[in-house]
Amino acid sequence: MCGIIGFIGRDKCIPKIIHGLEALEYRGYDSAGIAYFKDGKIETIKEEGKIANLKKLLNFNEDAYNGIGHTRWATHGEANKTNAHPHTVGKFTIVHNGIIENYSELKNELINKGYKFKSATDTEVACATFDDIYKEEKDILKTLHIASQKFRGSYAFGILCSDDTSTLYAMRNTSPLIVASAAYGNFIASDVPAILEFTNKYILLDDYEIAKIESDKITVYDKDLQVINKKINTFAGTFAAAAKNGYEHFMLKEIHEQDKVFSDTINFYFDGTIDSLEKNFSFLKKFSKIDIVACGSAYHTGLVGKSLIEEYANTPVNVEVASEYRYKKCFYDKNTLVILVSQSGETADTLAALRKAKEDGITTMAIVNVIGSSIAREAEHVIYIKAGCEIAVATTKAYLAQLAIFSLLAIYLGYQNKCIKEDELAKIFTDLEKMPKLIKDTIANYESYFNIADKIYQNKQIFFIGRGIDYALSMEGSLKLKEISYINSVAYQAGELKHGTISLIEKNTPVIAIATDKNLIEKTISNIKEVKARGAYVIYVSNEEPKEDFYDEFIKITKIHPLLESILTIIPLQLLAYKVAKNNKCDIDKPRNLAKSVTVE
Ligand code: M6R
Repeated sequence: MCGIIGFIGRDKCIPKIIHGLEALEYRGYDSAGIAYFKDGKIETIKEEGKIANLKKLLNFNEDAYNGIGHTRWATHGEANKTNAHPHTVGKFTIVHNGIIENYSELKNELINKGYKFKSATDTEVACATFDDIYKEEKDILKTLHIASQKFRGSYAFGILCSDDTSTLYAMRNTSPLIVASAAYGNFIASDVPAILEFTNKYILLDDYEIAKIESDKITVYDKDLQVINKKINTFAGTFAAAAKNGYEHFMLKEIHEQDKVFSDTINFYFDGTIDSLEKNFSFLKKFSKIDIVACGSAYHTGLVGKSLIEEYANTPVNVEVASEYRYKKCFYDKNTLVILVSQSGETADTLAALRKAKEDGITTMAIVNVIGSSIAREAEHVIYIKAGCEIAVATTKAYLAQLAIFSLLAIYLGYQNKCIKEDELAKIFTDLEKMPKLIKDTIANYESYFNIADKIYQNKQIFFIGRGIDYALSMEGSLKLKEISYINSVAYQAGELKHGTISLIEKNTPVIAIATDKNLIEKTISNIKEVKARGAYVIYVSNEEPKEDFYDEFIKITKIHPLLESILTIIPLQLLAYKVAKNNKCDIDKPRNLAKSVTVE
C-alpha cells in the first residue's frame, strides 16, 4: 500500500528519498512523487506508474536537503499524475497514507471558503484543511494539532510548509509512521525497510502524535501538544532479505526459505519439551472459546487453526474476516480469547477488530511477523512468527509460519485439555523434528508441480475442492493462484459442488482436489468422481496413494501427524500457483492492484 519517506539533513535529499521509495516498492503502488525545498521554494515532481518513470524526471544532484516522497496505491480517484502525491494547497505540501473519511464534508466547507481542487483525493482536502487553519493560527504545530482533531479516519502525513524551510513535520493516526535518525540527518518513513540503508535507529510515532524534525533535532508532541520523550528503537535485522539471492522472484525465494522459517518459528517457543510450551503459552489455559480474526491468507491460517484446535484440543473456535468482525455483533465474553493474525501487523481491519475487542474488555493475542507493528504493540499477548522480511505480495513463508504456530497452540491446548495423551505427544514431538527436512524435500520436488502447472496455465478458471481442513487449504491454494496469475479460481467444500457449482465444470476444467484427512478421503473421492464424470481435469493432492483411476495428476504429500500435515500440503499449491503465473508472464512479486500491507479499510 502507499509508502512515505522524508529526509532533512546535511546530505542531498533526492537520492535518499528515491532509495527509500524503492525499498518500499514491494508494498504495491501505481504512481510516485517527490517534493523538496530548492532555493526556499517547494518543487514537486510526480508521475504515473513505476518509480523508474519518476526517476527520469529528477536531477539527483539538486541542492535540496529537505523533502518528502510517496508511492500511491489509489483509493480516492484513479491512478494518474494529478492524483499522485505530494499535493500542494497554499503554503502546505503533503504526502499521506490512509483515508480521511470525512473528506467530502471538509471539502464542501473548503469550497465554500473559495478553495478549488485539482484532484479527486482526500489528501488534497487534508492539505487544504492545513492551509485554511494556518491562515488563522499562523503557527504550524497548532495547525497540525487542530487539523488532527478535525480528521476522521486514518492518516500518516509527511508535511512541508513553505514558511519553514528548515523543518519537516509528520503526524499519524492509525496508519504507521516512524521517525529515524542518522549522523547526517533525520528521516520519516511509513515502514522500517525505507530507512534501513541509512540507519537502524528509529522512533515509532503513536496515534495523534506530531513530530517536528530538523536537520539535527527531533521533537515529538503528544495529543495535547506537550513535548514527550520517545523510546529509540534499534532494528536488529538488515534489509539483506530484500535481495533475491539468485532466485527469479522473491516469491520463489521465500518459498525456499520455508524450512528455515519453520525451524526458527518452532525453536523460538519449543525446545522439545512440553515445559517450553507451558512457559510460552500458559496464559491460554483459562479461555474456553477462541475467536480468530484476520484477512486474506491470515484468515485462511485461522481456518486451519480452527480445525486443529477444535479437533485436538476440543475448544470451540470461531474464525471471522476482520472487515466483517469489526462491525458485527460479537458474542464474546471474559472466557473468550480473540486471536488476531497478521503478517504485517498493520492491516487496518485487523487492527480495528483488535481495538474493538479491547474496548469491550476481551483478552487479545496477536500472531504477527513485523516486530513493533501496530497490532503487535496493541495486543495484550504477542506471538511473533519468525518469517523475516517478506517482500512478495503473495504471502508464503509467513502463512506457513502462522500454521506452525497454530500447530503448537493445538498441541499445547490438546495436552492441557487431556485430549492428547503422553504417547501421542511423544509421536508429535518426533514428527516436529522431521518437519524441516520434509519441508525441504517437498520444495525440492518442485519440477513435478511445475509440470502440472505447464498443463493447466492456459485455462480460464481453476477450481479447488476439499473438506474440513483440506477445504481451508483449498482456499489458500485458490487465493495464491488467482492473486498472482489473474486466473479465476474458487475453492469449494467438496460436498457443496452439486448444489450449483458443478454446472461450471466443462471438459478439461482443472479441479485441484485436496484430500489428506483420513476420515474424509472417501467422501472427497466420491465428489471428485462427480466432477471427473463431467470432464474435469483432476489434480489429486493426498497423503494416500489413490487405489482407483479417478484423477489425471497426483501430488503425493508425505504422511506425518495430521497436526503438522497442512504445513506440507500447502507447499505444492504455492509452487503450482507460482509456475502458472510465471507461464502467464505475470508480475509475480507485485500483482496488479494489490498491496503488501493493507492499511486502509
Ligand atoms: O499483513 P496481513 O497478514 O494482515 O495481510 C492480510 C492479507 O492482506 C494478506 O494475507 C493477503 O491476502 C495476501 N496478499 C495473500 O497472499
